[in-house]
Amino acid sequence: MENTPKDLSEILKEATKEVHTQAENVEFMRNFQKGQVTREGFKLVMASLYHIYAALEEEIESNKQNPVYAPLYFPEELHRKAALEQDMAFWYGPHWQETIPYTPATQHYVRRLHEVGHTHPELLVAHTYTRYLGDLSGGQVLKKIAQKSLALPGSGEGLAFFTFPNIDNPTKFKQLYRARMNTLEMTPEVKHRVTEEAKTAFLLNIELFEELQGLLIQDHKGQIPSQMEWLRQRSGSLVQDTTPEEIPRGKPRISTSSSQAPLLRWVLTLSFLMATVAVGIYAM
Ligand code: HEM
Repeated sequence: MENTPKDLSEILKEATKEVHTQAENVEFMRNFQKGQVTREGFKLVMASLYHIYAALEEEIESNKQNPVYAPLYFPEELHRKAALEQDMAFWYGPHWQETIPYTPATQHYVRRLHEVGHTHPELLVAHTYTRYLGDLSGGQVLKKIAQKSLALPGSGEGLAFFTFPNIDNPTKFKQLYRARMNTLEMTPEVKHRVTEEAKTAFLLNIELFEELQGLLIQDHKGQIPSQMEWLRQRSGSLVQDTTPEEIPRGKPRISTSSSQAPLLRWVLTLSFLMATVAVGIYAM
């Protein structure tokens, strides 16, 4: 196989087939596809995406004239940071910059993006391929699922990330992007490292989804372990919800409201018990 020269776009598609299947099948993504996405889960993943795209696009800007990346520079068509800023304001309110969570797996992903941008810019293509072609492929389906499951308005508010207003035909754009990838001059050694980096990029996404799923389970049990205090400190609670109340539709799922404030539930239950005992004592 090493003797057959192939286009980078083909190599990457083939090399990431297995990790792509793995990514589709992590619990968080499986649930998402079944429409079992909660507001808290959605907010978490969107906040992570904000940090990831902010880092990715910062590194893209630093390397936009570097020949190892320049042919792939499509800020108007692809860049997501501004869209995610709108989404953050919708989901977390005007003070989103101080309140959005920044999970360890997100930090890990962001660290790698900066490392690549600063030290190995020839690998940046692996990350832009993994994210942008992925967004252009599955994004529209995920948008519809989110819209339905979270009962969001048809106007697309809160879902700017999924909309590419400057791309009329995603299939054609993906073709153009692949053609541009294939113009990058690369030695076989660099091609190999780019391929490995693309697999790493998928694994960073998988690690993130697994982490978020774990956080959601912990929060539903009302248990945020001490090593996750950073989350409470940053956002008050995992599920601090500043968006207007909406009536959930769609398939039955774990109710967000029942899980919204485990601490509050505890305090209320305790207060009720104390009041009952006090009335009992008074009545004696
Ligand atoms: C719910 C999970 C997912 C579904 C249902 C899904 C679905 C798809 C579909 C239908 C395609 C088009 C395949 C084709 O044109 O031949 C695709 C392509 C792609 N997806 Fe996903 N995907 C998912 C998750 C992910 C994740 C998590 C990533 C990475 C972060 C990703 C990255 C990609 C990439 C890079 C491509 C382009 C492949 C290529 O043409 O070279 N996908 N996906």
